Amino acid sequence: MKIAIIGAGNVGGATAMRILEEGIADVVLIDIAKGLSQAKAFDLDDARSIVGHDNSIEGSEDFSKIKGSDIVIVTAGLARKPGMSRENLLKKNYEIIKSISKNIKELCVNSMVIAVANPVDIMTYVLLKETDFDKRRVFGMGAGLDSSRFNNLISKKLNIPSSRIKSLVVGSHGKAMIPLPRFSTIDDKPLDKILSKDEIDNLVSLTKDRGAQIVSLYGSGSAYFAPSAAILDICRAIINDENRTIPISVYLEGEYGVSDVCVGVPAKLGKKGIKEIVKLDLNQQERELFLQSVKSIKESTNIIYKKKDNG
Ligand code: 2OP
Repeated sequence: MKIAIIGAGNVGGATAMRILEEGIADVVLIDIAKGLSQAKAFDLDDARSIVGHDNSIEGSEDFSKIKGSDIVIVTAGLARKPGMSRENLLKKNYEIIKSISKNIKELCVNSMVIAVANPVDIMTYVLLKETDFDKRRVFGMGAGLDSSRFNNLISKKLNIPSSRIKSLVVGSHGKAMIPLPRFSTIDDKPLDKILSKDEIDNLVSLTKDRGAQIVSLYGSGSAYFAPSAAILDICRAIINDENRTIPISVYLEGEYGVSDVCVGVPAKLGKKGIKEIVKLDLNQQERELFLQSVKSIKESTNIIYKKKDNG
């Protein structure tokens, strides 16, 4: 199994470490910044005898090294600065991801592609369109991370272990994300039957702001420990052919009543990629939020692809 990670910044480096420590694949780390990916690869490799991993790691500036990868993880792109929205990154990252897509299309004809660069729902769409790969093989990491953040905040609020909590966030990985209390449970009991509306609203708002909170505390760069964990979780489901449900950004063609957009929903993932998009029975209020979220993603996608339909 070979995994290529494009972008050797904090997310790329942490993801490489998690994959190596999991022992599930050889890793190739690519970055255009001279020396960066090689330095990280040497550094990670030097931990081999202590950590006990046996997979190879190679860092390079040369894209041809991704050839034949089973999974390509695209973390490259600019990260947010304090006060900058994920959407501000749109145009710059579009150009970067478009050129990366060309390499993936040429060198990794059968690979799965995981988009991580922000705004991730739009970059997932760009990777899908520019590679022209089957939609089951291209998806984005965002909703899984948001769900994990929601879980953690619920766990802190109720002072219970996160293993007892199932949490779900759907929609865009951005301001219009939708934490879903009705579909988030503690010992199978929905959150909206445990906490008051105000308490839930507070958790929802903390979840939505968590990424920006971390950006602001770092002062430069964004989160990478939890993002890399969410990426690893996707890789596990694929490599172990788990057909496990994970919230990811996927291309919808009529599901949830929307089309031609990549947005976070739960999907079953296995060795062939997306096996099934899970359709949640959203109530009217959740559905309205979902449609607003889709609208916000389409507005950005349409700027790039110059389309008119935001619905
Ligand atoms: C975040 O939410 C990096 O988008 C990522 O922290």
